[in-house]
Amino acid sequence: MPKTIGLICGSLREKSYNRIIAQSLTDMSDSVQFRWIEIKELPLFNEDLEVGGDPVVVTSFKSSIQEVDGIIIVSPEYNSGIPGALKNALDWASRPSKSSVLSRKPVGLIGATPGGLGTAFAQMQIRQILEAMQVHVLPFQKMLISQVHEKIDSDQKVLTDEKTKRYLQRYLQQFIHWIDHTPVID
Ligand SMILES: Cc1cc2nc3c(=O)[nH]c(=O)nc-3n(C[C@H](O)[C@H](O)[C@H](O)COP(=O)(O)O)c2cc1C
Repeated sequence: MPKTIGLICGSLREKSYNRIIAQSLTDMSDSVQFRWIEIKELPLFNEDLEVGGDPVVVTSFKSSIQEVDGIIIVSPEYNSGIPGALKNALDWASRPSKSSVLSRKPVGLIGATPGGLGTAFAQMQIRQILEAMQVHVLPFQKMLISQVHEKIDSDQKVLTDEKTKRYLQRYLQQFIHWIDHTPVID
């Protein structure tokens, strides 16, 4: 069975650059399958909503995470930090805290911005948040895409910059390797 990688986009924007970047990954390897994991319909996290059992949309979101071998999050940066919709999704996925679907899951981080710093601040925050959830984030590697609007054909919704394609391909190969080599710690 080929491995399956879930794709989470941290932007809800219809013409999101980050979604275009995530989509470009799906053409970059024949050895894995990709599955979108959507966060748009999740309610705002509230412990009261958990009392009678998770809402259906949350159950389905958590199942999607459970079913994939790893997840790549492709996210913008808002105000030097993680977008609220993504944080909300991660909070849902982190429950129950001792046995969450995210615990020990291999996760990769990619971010794109029209700005110059490639979402570096957001990625630092996301990494820290995932660490608290005992997620196996791909170590050492950073995939920061700056001036993304110059690297994409927005009408065709495709990544056109060859250098960025090569970086993404390399990152994806490293992530696939990481799925097989995450440490087993209990
Ligand atoms: C509320 C808000 C805050 C933003 N803050 C940052 C920021 O701190 N750093 C940055 O590089 N871009 C920032 N941006 C610009 C986003 O990178 C830009 O809107 C980008 O296109 C969003 O990603 P998307 O195309 O995937 O939706 C901000 C945008 C918004 C709407």
